[in-house]
Amino acid sequence: MTLRPASNLACPMDDLPLDVSGSAWRCARGHSFDVAQEGYCNLLLVQQKASRDPGDSKAMVAARHRFLEAGHFAPIADRLYFQALGALAEHQGASPCVLDAGCGEGYYLARFADLAEKHGQPPDIALAGMDVSKWAVKAAAKRGLAATFVVGSNKHPPFLPGSVDLILSVFGFPHWEGFARVLAGGGHVLLADPGPEHLAQLREVIYPTVRASPPPSLDAAGKAGFALAAEETLLFSIDLEGQQAIQDLLLMTPHGARVPQERRGAIAALERLTVTIDVTFRLVAKRAA
Ligand SMILES: C[S@@+](CC[C@H](N)C(=O)[O-])C[C@H]1O[C@@H](n2cnc3c(N)ncnc32)[C@H](O)[C@@H]1O
Repeated sequence: MTLRPASNLACPMDDLPLDVSGSAWRCARGHSFDVAQEGYCNLLLVQQKASRDPGDSKAMVAARHRFLEAGHFAPIADRLYFQALGALAEHQGASPCVLDAGCGEGYYLARFADLAEKHGQPPDIALAGMDVSKWAVKAAAKRGLAATFVVGSNKHPPFLPGSVDLILSVFGFPHWEGFARVLAGGGHVLLADPGPEHLAQLREVIYPTVRASPPPSLDAAGKAGFALAAEETLLFSIDLEGQQAIQDLLLMTPHGARVPQERRGAIAALERLTVTIDVTFRLVAKRAA
């Protein structure tokens, strides 16, 4: 089993292959991108940024890191790994490339690497993580995995066209045209999204009424040439002990920014909370052109 950093990067200025050796990555036209001290490269162009500091903030990344490292979401990471292996089994090429798009602080790629080592499979795989948040990518790169980490957007993934075999999108924000461009023929996207009961008890503390919403629609995926290939649910519950874990979970979800002032006291008073985790896994295949 060999995991190695992906090298199929494309220059965000002109889409030419990037030479990723050395302390700066370069394309044949001389565009150059410095490699940060932590080993990642920022390939997000100013004109691709929706704000000055896009994506998750430094505080959100830190909260997510503490929460995930406590192991609360390990069953999600395990399921993701085995589903990814299933998708890669259909892959014909010698050394598939897996891209975690919206990789956050790298927890799922780290678990992927741990499980690959434990189970001795898959045989050879190139790994990459990308996030629009530089704070997330910095934290992910610090893990020292055999993976390439870049700051980049799902809308313009800085990878060579048709060079990625599997995209992981865990609680992410897929951009289907961007994904279609970099995916190889026969490639897949593996989505892990909140199911109807996800975080129900936390939402009950925050909102006066709580609706069981379905996972995000795949209409945009269909329009971009993707079709649902498989769907599965993972349902379990976690017991959170203490304010730190509860506040971390809140901060790492969209609910953190939506808590009304009058509910903050109720949350601050919680010392423990049992929360339902409901995740919908969907494997989405790129249809042949
Ligand atoms: C809910 S977090 C999930 C992070 C990670 N997948 C996990 O589950 O731990 C969503 C992530 O998507 C990133 N993100 C948001 N918009 C993005 C985009 N357009 N392209 C790439 N990443 C994006 C955020 O910065 C954040 O790290």
